[in-house]
Amino acid sequence: MIQRPKGTKDILPEESYGWQYIEKKIEKLFENYGFKEIRTPVFEHTELFQRGVGDTTDVVQKEMYTFEDKGGRSITLRPEGTAGVVRAYIENGMASKPSPTKLWYNMGMYRYENVQKGRLREFHQIGAEIIGADSYLADVEIISMANEIFKVLDIPNIELTINSIGCPVCRENYQKALREFIKPNLKNYCEICQSRYEKNPMRILDCKEKKCKELNINAPRIIDYLCEECKIHFENVKSMLSEVGIPYTIDTNIVRGLDYYTKTVFEFISKEEGYTILGGGRYDGLIQELEGQETKALGFAVGLERLIEIFLKHNKLEDKTAPLLYIANIGDEASKVATKLTQNLRRMGLHVEKDIQGRSIKAQFKYADKIGSKYVLTIGETEIKNQIAKIKEMQTGKEIETDLTPEKIKEIIQK
Ligand code: HAM
Repeated sequence: MIQRPKGTKDILPEESYGWQYIEKKIEKLFENYGFKEIRTPVFEHTELFQRGVGDTTDVVQKEMYTFEDKGGRSITLRPEGTAGVVRAYIENGMASKPSPTKLWYNMGMYRYENVQKGRLREFHQIGAEIIGADSYLADVEIISMANEIFKVLDIPNIELTINSIGCPVCRENYQKALREFIKPNLKNYCEICQSRYEKNPMRILDCKEKKCKELNINAPRIIDYLCEECKIHFENVKSMLSEVGIPYTIDTNIVRGLDYYTKTVFEFISKEEGYTILGGGRYDGLIQELEGQETKALGFAVGLERLIEIFLKHNKLEDKTAPLLYIANIGDEASKVATKLTQNLRRMGLHVEKDIQGRSIKAQFKYADKIGSKYVLTIGETEIKNQIAKIKEMQTGKEIETDLTPEKIKEIIQK
């Protein structure tokens, strides 16, 4: 039997109901904050991620699904959403629209990861980006919106951690200090870290190798090297978060795995699961890096598979997919009447089912019961002749007489 590829997941009907519930809640929340949906291609030119996400990141060096298409172009399945959204923003001249531009997306992402709990090769992210906002107030707005996701979904025990990783100005001094710290032990780091030493030593702090993590324990912290502007920005973010009552802890170890971040970075972590559910931050240089006008921006993405797992641990969802009415019928004439009635009731916006397999009346009742239909209406020759039939409420066994007009049936079953 052909099985699904490693690191992918089938979302079966029992679970897709939960997905829809979560997606609708988040989409409504985003609308209230003024965000509009954007959908970008599943694949992009590889160069977009090399330049956008950074060619010394794990994502680009180890995890991309890259292939050559039949026209000889290097193509990559998107490993994350921000680079594609920014590309679309620039390419479609969205800078001419009122600023800031607030965009959200719900898209599949692809990373060739070591598969483990909460770490898939195909996963889904709902993300939000504010493009064209410089002030710390935008940081607070995006963090507040992220925080509300856990509130509207009733998910407790999520911790917000924040950090500032500065800008190219402060980074210059910091990288110098970091190189000095790493230098005496450089040969003890993994090969990839060694290759990152000159070009991007900050990436060494993000290495998942145990020996590199140990060597990094006393590394200098970027927070101690922030320039005046970054320092003030971070102070303002922190005091405004306190002002609006959003608790946070500062984690100076957050560097994030993507190169485009500047200034504020943040993660919402589930202590129970031991992983990050949502991550984001500022990326003030990305639009320029991708050849747009200098435009400050920020955003986040939440991993849906991780979110749903933790959501279901704390919430019970009632399956609302059961039909309101099942129309059981016997004989050719009754089948025609049932078919038309079903069609009319569905057009009136009701979930109605009927037999489409030519089953016996007994089998039809059994099926209606199994799928949890609230009511069953039975139509046979007598019912058609008298234009009167009975609707049975399945839970109580109570029967109600009705004529065969959809209006009357609707009135009864919607009470
Ligand atoms: P990220 O931290 O790489 O950020 O991913 C965001 C979230 O996606 C993670 O916190 C996690 O929940 C989920 N995720 C990531 N990788 C996997 C995986 N292999 N399996 C399952 N879930 C995963 C970004 O992608 C940025 N683009 C976020 C952002 C938007 N920053 C600014 N704007």
